[in-house]
Amino acid sequence: MDRFAFFKLKWPLSPDNATSSATATPTDPTGISHIVFGVVSSVNTWERRKSYVESWWRPNVTRGYIFLDRDPSQRFHPWPSSSPPFRVNEPIKSRRDSRYVSQIRIVRTIMETFMQGDKDVRWYVMADDDTILFVDNLVEVLAKYNHTEYFYIGMNSECVGSNVNFAFEMAFGGAGYALSYPLAEALSKKLDGGFHQIDLHGDISGLLSAHPQSPVLSLHHIDFVDPIFPSMNRSASVNHLMEAAKVDHSRLLEQTICYQRKNNWSFSTSWGYSTHMYENIHPRSFLLRPVETFKPWLRNFKPPLYMFNTRSLTNDPCEAPS
Ligand SMILES: *[C@@H]1O[C@H](CO)[C@@H](O)[C@H](O)[C@H]1NC(C)=O
Ligand SMILES: *[C@@H]1O[C@H](CO)[C@@H](O)[C@H](O)[C@H]1NC(C)=O
Ligand SMILES: *[C@@H]1O[C@H](CO)[C@@H](O)[C@H](O)[C@H]1NC(C)=O
Ligand SMILES: *[C@@H]1O[C@H](CO)[C@@H](O)[C@H](O)[C@H]1NC(C)=O
Repeated sequence: MDRFAFFKLKWPLSPDNATSSATATPTDPTGISHIVFGVVSSVNTWERRKSYVESWWRPNVTRGYIFLDRDPSQRFHPWPSSSPPFRVNEPIKSRRDSRYVSQIRIVRTIMETFMQGDKDVRWYVMADDDTILFVDNLVEVLAKYNHTEYFYIGMNSECVGSNVNFAFEMAFGGAGYALSYPLAEALSKKLDGGFHQIDLHGDISGLLSAHPQSPVLSLHHIDFVDPIFPSMNRSASVNHLMEAAKVDHSRLLEQTICYQRKNNWSFSTSWGYSTHMYENIHPRSFLLRPVETFKPWLRNFKPPLYMFNTRSLTNDPCEAPS
């Protein structure tokens, strides 16, 4: 299984009413202007996470909104033009819902983003404020799908426990997922769902250093993992990775393996992120396994913990990368 590859779910039904403007057969390729982003945030987290959103947001290029739980005007005035414009989620009325307020807000945000009524939209992309998106890769992936059909493109959890606990087919996680216009339209009329959180704790360098050869679309839970470059804080780390993305976004994090036979060395490079050197020849099948530097999201599960094979951390100088 591709660890970061988004899965796609195509609804068995095609949209039945051809009334929306988006159902005209597309002729031009999907571009950045066809996407509207909906970012779930809150007044309390915004100050800390603004830099994550601004690392990928392009003023006057990307379209979308930050959805906040309450009016931010008291604390953030004026609202910066470097951030997406904000909207305040409609209040959640039912008391029964209070345990699930944050999940309900995620789902409500789809509806409320759709209800902004933007024109010429092909895809709605939803994410949390601690998610960084690789917009160019996202555009390239979405351009492959027929946006006039029902598509939900999302990512399941890296952790077995999370996938067992929640039905991931209907999981609206914060790592980012895309809904085609007709699907967003249909869901905004009738929404109920299952939810889950995606991601890991601790040092995710092992995972980022063994990324498959597929475009990276997003990284979620930036605030729950260690800074991805250990010498920098989280926002500086994110901006540093974005610098590499600007040079070559399509290869970002992709793992390349090569050998230096003369000295029996192995090299594994994660483009724009890390290079590991081993003083031994290791087979590709070994090097493709992420070093388990990280912890699962839910801690009370027994192995197997992950949806992919890992290598344990080791002090053996022949097996530990340097
Ligand atoms: C975005 O567009 C507005 C209106 O055209 C303009 O005033 C503003 O300076 C632009 N902002 C950036 C960052 O280009
Ligand atoms: C996209 O899907 C619609 C509806 O199924 C179909 O009519 C159209 O031909 C498709 N467009 C392309 C480019 O495949
Ligand atoms: C993170 O580091 C950068 C660069 O060193 C600095 O400008 C910024 O204020 C730091 N941010 C936080 C939240 O400490
Ligand atoms: C590389 O490994 C081979 C096979 O184990 C061994 O015969 C050779 O001496 C090694 N070369 C070096 C430079 O260590």
